[in-house]
Amino acid sequence: MEEIKLKNLLEKMTLKEKIMQLYQSDLPTFNRSSSSELDSTGPVTGPENNIILDKESLYSVGSILNCNNAKNAYNVQKEYMENNRLGIPLLFMFDVVHGFRTIFPIPLALACSWNPDLIEETARIAAKEGSASGNNVTFAPMSDLVRDPRWGRVMESQGEDPLLNALLSAAYVRGFQGNDLKDQETMAACVKHFAGYGASEAGRDYNTVDMSEQKLRNFYLSGYQKSIEAGAEMVMTSFNIFKGVPATANKFLLRDLLRDEMGFDGTVISDYDSLTEIIDHGAARDGKEAAKRGIEAGLDIEMVSTEYIHHLEDLVLEGTVEESLIDEAVMRILKLKNKLGLFEDPFRYIEPEREEKTHLHPEHRKLARSTAAESAVLLKNDEILPLEDKIDQLESIALIGPLADNGGIIGFWNALGKNEEAVTLKEGLENKYGDRLKINVEAGYNFETEQLDIEAVKKTVEKSDLVILALGEEQNMSGEGGSRAYLDLPGPQKKIAETAADSNKPAVLVLFNGRPLELKWYDDNMTAILESWFPGTEGGNALANLLNGDVNPSAKLTMSFPYTVGQIPVYYNHYSTGRSPEKVEDKNYRFLSRYQDIPNQPLYPFGFGLSYNDYEYSKPELSSKEMKKEDTISASIEIENLGSYSGKEIVQLYIRDLYGTTVRPVKELKDFMKISLEPGESKRIEFEIIEDMLKFYNLENKQVIEAGEFEVFIGANSRDLNYCGKFEYKD
Ligand code: GLC
Repeated sequence: MEEIKLKNLLEKMTLKEKIMQLYQSDLPTFNRSSSSELDSTGPVTGPENNIILDKESLYSVGSILNCNNAKNAYNVQKEYMENNRLGIPLLFMFDVVHGFRTIFPIPLALACSWNPDLIEETARIAAKEGSASGNNVTFAPMSDLVRDPRWGRVMESQGEDPLLNALLSAAYVRGFQGNDLKDQETMAACVKHFAGYGASEAGRDYNTVDMSEQKLRNFYLSGYQKSIEAGAEMVMTSFNIFKGVPATANKFLLRDLLRDEMGFDGTVISDYDSLTEIIDHGAARDGKEAAKRGIEAGLDIEMVSTEYIHHLEDLVLEGTVEESLIDEAVMRILKLKNKLGLFEDPFRYIEPEREEKTHLHPEHRKLARSTAAESAVLLKNDEILPLEDKIDQLESIALIGPLADNGGIIGFWNALGKNEEAVTLKEGLENKYGDRLKINVEAGYNFETEQLDIEAVKKTVEKSDLVILALGEEQNMSGEGGSRAYLDLPGPQKKIAETAADSNKPAVLVLFNGRPLELKWYDDNMTAILESWFPGTEGGNALANLLNGDVNPSAKLTMSFPYTVGQIPVYYNHYSTGRSPEKVEDKNYRFLSRYQDIPNQPLYPFGFGLSYNDYEYSKPELSSKEMKKEDTISASIEIENLGSYSGKEIVQLYIRDLYGTTVRPVKELKDFMKISLEPGESKRIEFEIIEDMLKFYNLENKQVIEAGEFEVFIGANSRDLNYCGKFEYKD
């Protein structure tokens, strides 16, 4: 439909109809308020409510949240279109975060692949499955930069680095949206949560965020920015405040920064109830003031809470709010519906046959398997892995732990995924070794009953030659509302690991978790540690391929693992301080920025991950000691595969700006390459250093490059780096 027709449509709408377009109801509310026969109400992703809408309102709402399958979507859209006066179709929105029915590894795991193309492909498949069930918009990517593993939502993030957050967020948007939103296998992307939600104090969900605009710009904005540049059609506001004003009603964030500066012209939606919650924040006297602050700040859609539909009409009629503000918001929503082709055919994405054909398609499972193998990080390996060349000398292996045969390995935000459809580690190992050796399985501990059977663990260990431990978190211990103050493995799981360690048999720990955990004891006592996160529907098969050696681990961490919870926040791109311990030889010297009881460094640093090969880095070089304005220089290094396996190595380039008008991080990731190396092969890798890599936001919040000196490093992770040299940038 041409834009002029949208304008004509807008003119025909009553004020009430326009305001209802700004409302997103949820499926349970539609169920309660209508006569539809819905076979189930979808997941509830926020505080339950008992909202009942009168029919006039119900048949004018703009969109529905959490409609989880084609049958429900058809019934809802059919009843709605039979009753909507002007024939304006509904939008359906859903959290398709890391897969829809075929579940891929959680985003924090996928990020460890450092593979934007792979992530784009998982998003494309997620949209293919999700759109067949009637979904038009997905609330993803989550582009909140994170530094605190106590926060349960790190599982859906890209980690602690601005460059990776930017590249991977944009990859999700490309995957979901494809090249044409009218394509029935695509979904519009909604980047979230704008802005800075990942900095919730103490890692407590929904908590205060307090940071300077300069910090927001230098560390937290890149994921949202690149998602918008990739064409994201929607932005979701965050629960937190920024500069004392809730993001959902924050004019600086939503109009000055997001629209005027970042150039976003799509739709802004609140988070679940986040508009009404500005009252609880203390930023509005009542619902009417919340509605006024929301629409004036540039919030288009209110999700689930009802301040807009209860107060905007009065606010307009009494002259407090300009109707033009309503019109501009409605227009953005009509344009999105038009882009999706919903005016031509409101049922174009509701395809039960395609739903049946695409969900859990073998090709999707195959991708889920390969991505899970490319996302698991080998943290330790004392020459026990891979198992292939050892299996035939073993009689049996013990597989012990509450996650050994647990479909919860699909993790949180699992859309229409089903735990029972996942390949567990037990099934994966049986598929791999079923006819070659006995696998003695013992859960040892049950998350629900909190019962530990340590005797059963001991017996299973005793009768086996090697122990594989499947330990970690239950799937709902991370995700939204999943903040935890302790980062050790929950419950008495350590007792299971101690039993294995005391047996003096090789103990391979396979971790299933949604956040960095406190692993110091395990690093000291386990023979090997494989961080598999929540690896998704094909997790068991992927892990069997890794443990056996069919796939050589190549993933690297995108979030630091703290030495202990007391070290948080710990992240690689920190500032030097005036008393850095790196500068003083005498380790007993007191007056330094360090702890008396632990090191400053994390247990496993950003960018860290092992392979079954050793890779040797040598001959680092910098092409020049000087870089002029609009010039480039290059840094290079040689890498050799000393191992006997083909493998992939993520080579990382870091730059340090030695001084500036404001202090600069001790290092920043500025580029990376994932290279393949055959056994014995070596390659020389060259990175181009360009001016963009030197930019930062200064005290005036302006993006600048300042003349000065920069150091360049290349290495396997943010700790093990090779000095390439220093150059002076002259503007
Ligand atoms: C939740 C989450 C948000 C999600 C939304 C809809 O509260 O914060 O990420 O997209 O509600 O489910």
